[in-house]
Amino acid sequence: MISVERVSKSYGSGETAVRALDDVSLTVGRGEIFGVVGQSGAGKSTLIRTINSLERPDSGSVVVDGRDVTSLTGAGLRSARHNIGMIFQHFNLLSSRTVQANVELSLEITGAGRAARRSQALEILERVGLHGKAAAYPAQLSGGQKQRVGIARALASKPSVLLSDEATSALDPETTTQILDLIRQLSKDMGLTVLLITHEMDVVKRICDAAAVMSEGRVLEQGPVEQLLTTEKSLLGHALFPLGDIPETDNTIIEITFTGATSDSPVIARLARRHGIDVGILGAAVETIHGRQTGRTRLELPGEASAVAAAVADLRTQGLFVEVIK
Ligand SMILES: Nc1ncnc2c1ncn2[C@@H]1O[C@H](COP(=O)(O)OP(=O)(O)O)[C@@H](O)[C@H]1O
Ligand SMILES: [Mg+2]
Repeated sequence: MISVERVSKSYGSGETAVRALDDVSLTVGRGEIFGVVGQSGAGKSTLIRTINSLERPDSGSVVVDGRDVTSLTGAGLRSARHNIGMIFQHFNLLSSRTVQANVELSLEITGAGRAARRSQALEILERVGLHGKAAAYPAQLSGGQKQRVGIARALASKPSVLLSDEATSALDPETTTQILDLIRQLSKDMGLTVLLITHEMDVVKRICDAAAVMSEGRVLEQGPVEQLLTTEKSLLGHALFPLGDIPETDNTIIEITFTGATSDSPVIARLARRHGIDVGILGAAVETIHGRQTGRTRLELPGEASAVAAAVADLRTQGLFVEVIK
């Protein structure tokens, strides 16, 4: 489990100071996959560096599996770091070492003997689907294979936490999907707590249980992904369903979010029939989020305010999440 509490971190001083983290709090439950999204410069990498204690916050605390990593030094710090694996956008492999030697490197600091290192490295390589590649050099591998080595290296010492800094951002969409599915599988099999930072919404859709949106060092919202999708004005909700700009009109515009079993067509037909409204469909997006079909439809509702209000109320009594946009 990761608990970040009221962490702030600034770089530089005076007028040029940058507040990279501004009173950030978030919790990642054990075995959970948590995504942090935000534009470049939002503070995501700084957040990750405070969690693996490459960076010390100016204030606040970071607790990983019950240990406050912000106060550790020396052997305590090294041992806490063994419990945290990390993967990167550009893999950070040593080109002069074989795949196996890259993975073993992360075990050398744990003090494991040669035979133990070898067997642990081969075991984790097998798990990440790189059986038969132990003797290859990074230059002989595809991007996806390189990231598999990165994952093997991060997990060889069996940490309980995996941190990912844009680990799929340099990969093509298909390879991204494969790597995300691998991370999810490993998280399940090894009980891994995963915090990944990304600017790609596809990552959140595919594997995240929960997510936070960051901007200018602050967390703007966070929570379970499905909960955010049914939260008014959720930034994540809007980012996951790109419906475009809201058109100029005097009519009411609403968005209905459909999850799981509900489908939009009977709902819209019924709305028109029951309330006599000439419903206009302005846009719709369907996404597979967390393995479930989820959709959002934007509708234009012309007519008397009272009739429109009654229609919205009716939709809500059907258990639908309805947001009045305009
Ligand atoms: N070592 C550093 N020295 C000075 N400024 C930094 C340093 N690291 C990050 N920053 C600044 O802190 C802010 C957040 O950066 P970062 O955490 O890398 O954001 P992200 O990963 O979301 O792109 C940015 O304005 C960046 O320029
Ligand atoms: Mg970054």
